Amino acid sequence: MKLTFTNEQEMIRNMVRNFAQHVVEPAVEQMEVEDRFPREVVRQMGELGLLGIPIPEKYGGAGMDFTSYIIAIHELSKVSAAVGVILSVHTSVGTNPILYFGSEEQKERYIPKLAKGEYIGAFALTEPSAGSDAGSLKTRAVKEGDEYVLTGSKVYITNGGEADTYIVFARTDPEAGTRGISAFIVEKDTKGFEIGNRERKMGMHGSSTVQLSFDQCRVPASQLLGNEGDGFKIAMANLDNGRIGIAAQSLGIAEASLEHAVRYAKGREQFGKPISSQQGILFKLADMGTEVEAAKLLTYQAASRLDEGLPTGKVASMAKLFASRTAVACAIEAVQVHGGYGYTKDYAVERFFRDAKVCEIYEGTNEIQHIVISNHLIKE
Ligand code: CAA
Repeated sequence: MKLTFTNEQEMIRNMVRNFAQHVVEPAVEQMEVEDRFPREVVRQMGELGLLGIPIPEKYGGAGMDFTSYIIAIHELSKVSAAVGVILSVHTSVGTNPILYFGSEEQKERYIPKLAKGEYIGAFALTEPSAGSDAGSLKTRAVKEGDEYVLTGSKVYITNGGEADTYIVFARTDPEAGTRGISAFIVEKDTKGFEIGNRERKMGMHGSSTVQLSFDQCRVPASQLLGNEGDGFKIAMANLDNGRIGIAAQSLGIAEASLEHAVRYAKGREQFGKPISSQQGILFKLADMGTEVEAAKLLTYQAASRLDEGLPTGKVASMAKLFASRTAVACAIEAVQVHGGYGYTKDYAVERFFRDAKVCEIYEGTNEIQHIVISNHLIKE
C-alpha cells in the first residue's frame, strides 16, 4: 500500500478542494436552511467529471482509479457531507451496479449519462420492515410476459426524488430467501412508480431522503440487472465498495472538525491566553488528530486494495466502522472546544455534529459492520 498520492491523485485533490471552497461552501447555508438539493452544485460536478471519476472512459467517465474517487468524497465532505453522500450514493451504489453487473446494452444506455451527470443515480434496498435485515425485503416483482410488475415500498432512499435511475431490489421468488431477490434499473417516470414523503432529518440537509412506492409498476424485462436471484449479491457487493465512500465522507467530517477546533482554539482567549495553550484542550486535539490519521489510513487502505483488485469486504467495513465513529467523536469534541459558540448555528461544528451521526447508520449500521467484520475474521 502506497502512503503517498500519485500526481494524478494530487491533481484531483487540488481540483476538488478548490471546487469545494468556491462552489460548495457558498451553497451550504441555503442547503442548511431550506434543506434543498444543491442542483446547481451537482450540475457543475457533472461538468467537471466528478460524477464519473472511476467510470471507464469508454462509458463517458474520467477513467481514474477508485482512490481518486475516494479523495473527491473526502475533500467535498470536509465542506459539505451532504454533497459527499450525493456523490457517493450516485457512484458506488447508483452507477457501479450497472457497470459491474449490467448487460452491454444497459451499460451503453445508462452509464454515459450517469458518468456525465445528465442522470443522477439512486439505490433502493431498504424497506419499512427490512433495514439491517435487507434479505427480508418484501417488494415483489412478478414476471408477466416481457415485463416485471413491481409492488411494494422503499424508505430512506438517498438522492430519491432527484434521481433519474433507481437500482431497485425486489423479490422474484418468495420461497428462495436472499436467493429470491432480483435487481432492476427503474427510470424515474415509470408508470406506477411514485416518490413519497421526503424525510426531515437531523442533519445532511440538502441531501434528499425519500420514500418510494411501486403500485403495479411495469418494468421491461430488459431492465433486470444480471439474472433473476442475483439481486442480494449485487446489493452486498456494491455496498462493500459503497462503505469505503461512507468512510471517506466520515473522514471528511472528522478532519473538518479537527481543523475548525484547532483554528478556534488558537484564536479564543480565556484566562489571558489562547485556550490552545490549555492542556485540557490540547489533549482533545491530540486525540482527534490521532483518530483522524488512523481513519485516513484505513479508508485509503481499503480504496487502494480495491484498485489492486484485492478483496475489500472486511477492510471496507473496518474503515466505515472506525471512520464513522471518529466522525462522531471528533464532531462532539469540536463542539466542546468551541464551548457555547459551538452550540450555535454560527459555527460549522454544530452542523458537523448533526451530520456525523448518520455515518454510523446508513450503508449498514455499525452493528452490521461488526457482523461483517467478525464473519470475515472467523472465515479467515
Ligand atoms: N458480496 C457478495 N455476496 C455476499 C456478500 C458480499 N459482500 N455478503 C453476503 N453475500 C452472499 C452470501 O455469500 C450468501 O450467498 P449464498 O446464498 O450463495 O450462500 C448470501 O449473500 C446471503 O448472505 P448472508 O446469509 O450472510 O446474508 P444475511 O441475510 O445474513 O445478511 C448482512 C447479511 C451483512 C447482515 C446484510 O443483510 C447487510 O449488509 N445488511 C445491511 C444492509 C445495508 O447495508 N443497507 C444499506 C442500505 S443502502 C444505504 O444506506 C444507502 C444510503 O442511503 C447512503
